[in-house]
Amino acid sequence: MISIRENIVRLDTPNTTLLIDTDGEIPQYLYYGKRLPPLKDGCAFLRPEKERTGALLDRQILSQFGRGDYRESSLLLRDADGSVASRFVFRKAETAEKPAAANLPGARDAAATVKIQLCDQPSGIVCNVFYSAFEDTDAVAVSTELLNEGERPVLVGKLASLQLDLNGNDYTVSTFDGSWAAERIRHDRTVGNGLFVNQSKTGSSSALHSPMFLVSDTEGVFGFNLVWSGNHKETAESNSFGVTRIIVGESDFLYEVRLGPGERLLSPEAVMCRASGEEELTKAMHAFVNAHILPKRFSGVPRPVLFNSWEGTGFCFDAGKLVSMARQAKALGAELFVVDDGWFGRRNDDASSLGDWSANPEKTGGGLEALSARIRETGLRFGIWTEPEMISEDSDLFRAHPEYAMAVPGRDPYRHRNQLMLDITLPPVKEYIVRSVGDIIEKSGADYVKWDYNRNMSDLPANGRNAVHYFRRYILSLYEILASLTKKYPDVLFEGCAAGGGRFDLGILSFMPQIWTSDNTDARERLDIQFSTALMFPQAAMGAHVSASPNGFTRNSTPLETRFNVACGGNLGYELDPETLSIKDRRTIRAQIAFYKKYRALFQFGTYYLLERKHASEICGYLSVSPKKNAAVGSVFVRNKETGKGNFRFSFKGLLPDAVYCVTERRQSNYASAHTFTATGALLMYGEIGLDGIFEDADAPENSNCIFSRMFVLKKIK
Ligand code: GLA
Repeated sequence: MISIRENIVRLDTPNTTLLIDTDGEIPQYLYYGKRLPPLKDGCAFLRPEKERTGALLDRQILSQFGRGDYRESSLLLRDADGSVASRFVFRKAETAEKPAAANLPGARDAAATVKIQLCDQPSGIVCNVFYSAFEDTDAVAVSTELLNEGERPVLVGKLASLQLDLNGNDYTVSTFDGSWAAERIRHDRTVGNGLFVNQSKTGSSSALHSPMFLVSDTEGVFGFNLVWSGNHKETAESNSFGVTRIIVGESDFLYEVRLGPGERLLSPEAVMCRASGEEELTKAMHAFVNAHILPKRFSGVPRPVLFNSWEGTGFCFDAGKLVSMARQAKALGAELFVVDDGWFGRRNDDASSLGDWSANPEKTGGGLEALSARIRETGLRFGIWTEPEMISEDSDLFRAHPEYAMAVPGRDPYRHRNQLMLDITLPPVKEYIVRSVGDIIEKSGADYVKWDYNRNMSDLPANGRNAVHYFRRYILSLYEILASLTKKYPDVLFEGCAAGGGRFDLGILSFMPQIWTSDNTDARERLDIQFSTALMFPQAAMGAHVSASPNGFTRNSTPLETRFNVACGGNLGYELDPETLSIKDRRTIRAQIAFYKKYRALFQFGTYYLLERKHASEICGYLSVSPKKNAAVGSVFVRNKETGKGNFRFSFKGLLPDAVYCVTERRQSNYASAHTFTATGALLMYGEIGLDGIFEDADAPENSNCIFSRMFVLKKIK
């Protein structure tokens, strides 16, 4: 997978090859694209041309200020005396162990790693750039490390994980931006000549700008992501010489790390992947996340169908209500009941009690032990919500330890959702969180914990140290806490959440195998969120729930079957009060859950395809195909029904062209009498399939411009 010959570092993945030329001061990219056969006659002609003014035609693996290159750079060092200059020069390239640092997550089970080492002679700072390849995915993990082998400290002002300089300056950059309840909405733009920045300065990977990032040309797409949950920055900069520089890593906003003699700093791990198109990129990234990021204990393990109390009850419930909901959820086929916010302290709205993680005796019927025992008696597993990184000023914890809150002495802190954050960089706070979450798990015997995070950072404390790398210390402290809890409770299924999907990233997924994708459960709006998330994150990483109709936020009405068909794109759950359901809806949900369970492995772990429109922009869908391509399941959606429009058609993907499949349409109102037809994979993929009767068939609310859908099951019969 990795060879180093005649100054050329070669890294192969199943379908791609990366060539780096080390014959020069700074190693240069020669090639990153489709996999190449063995190189017989050298590849010097791939080298960048030389130009008079400096490094503007170079395609370097790292860049620094002041060597004739004034573009965005991946590395910035400042001497402790305040001077700024560096000259990193190539030293050696060798195969190596994949780098690791305490509490920093990274992909596991790499097949091979190469280390390219450079050194800045006067300061004695060594820089290692690592590239790791894997057997089963084209994704490549890249990280950069600094070692101070000199005698004086330096200040690191920026340490990106990855730099990739590309020929060409007509790339389209795709970012995934948004806000609460509108996470990861896709935006495509051409970079042209200029600098494009995608960045989070919130302290988390954020709902504003996700670290997932695409750079496309006519040949295909480069996909990037980061195994990191904090501030990040991705830039694309094109120059007039026709070179585009991509830099991916931690943000340099309020970033400065002092690196003393003998000390080492490792960047978070970036992931890059070259693919012929987005379909291939998704395949590679899903394989990467499933096999190398998600905790091993949960990789490939079916996720339970859960019922969550939040949208059904809000803060207003007692034990009787929860137990009765659980009983009904069990009758519908659910496997896990999650008691969401409101069970602790005096938490009857969002203004109090964060930090007081002891059960409210009235609302839990005598404590967590009693409540979880009663829920379990219904036959369901027990799950619980918590928001460990936060503190309410109206809490016993704050009254006893105001110094635990993230705040700057003498200033009135910024509040969001009436809450402050805990300063988890303080050892007693870390201990408090590990102890209190452990206590919740032990008292309740929880099988599942939803770990929420409902605001972003402000008022960064100095705590006797400089606050400039507070963001980084915060995330490393979070990872330390998560590592300790997941080690102690390896069988607990943790689900990440950050006011929905505000911290949906590979760092969180390294500890928690799934994340609540968004608080937005409106079927139409949710589709965009799930589809763009699924570009780089596998189905089993996405929590997806059916909620009530009309939707609590948008007031849109959607047929129950359509809501189900959307939620089947991730880990199915329900988030509504089962006591409000009609007999018909109960019957429907029972059939839905039974259907999902039957095809759960396919839904959660199948090879994922987005089904796009054929002639009509209103059509979209997804399909999960088994590894051997002998079965598939998925849904197709028509977003709008407009008078005078019709002829809605689509095609399947990922099938064996010569095989014959039996296709069963799971129609909404009469799925009991299945509609089936048979056809070759070729016809199903290249032909245009009609959606006969899709509007009449749906149990659509009167006068609503709702979203219509149909589920399909495909089985290979020949
Ligand atoms: C956040 C989460 C929701 C729910 C509420 C409870 O908004 O995203 O799912 O848990 O908090 O307060």
